[in-house]
Amino acid sequence: MESQAAVPVKNGDNPVPELFCTTHVEGWTVHAAQEVGSTNMVAAKLPPWNAVCARRQTAGRGRFQRTWISDEGGLWLSAVVPIGEGSGWRALPLGVGLAVSDALGVLGVRNLRMRWPNDLLVDNRKLAGLLLDQFEPGTVVAGIGVNVYNQPEQCDPALKDQTARLADLVGASPALPELASLILCHLRRVVEQMNAGGFGALIPEVNRLWGTPRKVELDLDGVIRRGIFGGVDSEGNLILLDELGGSSTFGSHQVRHLKENN
Ligand code: BTN
Repeated sequence: MESQAAVPVKNGDNPVPELFCTTHVEGWTVHAAQEVGSTNMVAAKLPPWNAVCARRQTAGRGRFQRTWISDEGGLWLSAVVPIGEGSGWRALPLGVGLAVSDALGVLGVRNLRMRWPNDLLVDNRKLAGLLLDQFEPGTVVAGIGVNVYNQPEQCDPALKDQTARLADLVGASPALPELASLILCHLRRVVEQMNAGGFGALIPEVNRLWGTPRKVELDLDGVIRRGIFGGVDSEGNLILLDELGGSSTFGSHQVRHLKENN
């Protein structure tokens, strides 16, 4: 499954700095470092099927330009995914959420659910967050942060009771490189499935991840719409149900923010 040799990457034309070790895992080339600013930024110029992970990030990036606390003991991983042409790839954030959720399920995490588009929660506490960046045409960098053994609330007291850690949820949580391999394995499967059959083939799996129906508020670039979250349609558009049984759909690019109200 994994090649054993950890070879330092030479600089030269390679955009990965020399301090990285490189291994080959599940069809991916993985560059591992002690510390980087943000793994997404290091992965920005790498070719498809490369991934970067680091023990610590000094400038971890979250959605909405937030800082992502990335203390030692968490998994901070960025995977460069090749994307084909066509609008189906807009649903990639949902596919990445599915891949990470599947990997966590294999490890025995229960009561995991996704909050649109791809936060992974257990008992309303955030276990994993995903940030997708497109730096180059033809690829997307999927940034994956999973709280494992780290203690984010010690870095930011506002996170108290807001986060979940894998180590508290399963009997034997894996070493971080094993967790990275497992997630990359599931991510490869999802991307290949999207390539072969489009996003439609993944819809039933994605729609099983949302948990019980919830009241939500959508911020559509300043206009607020309220309703019940109804999952996603075959194109990955968000479905909003109203109390009379009607529904509206919104592309992910139209929804600036989704707030859950229960
Ligand atoms: C969020 O929920 O706000 C998204 C968090 C994404 C964090 C990951 S950690 C690996 C990758 N590198 C970053 O700088 N961010 C993502």
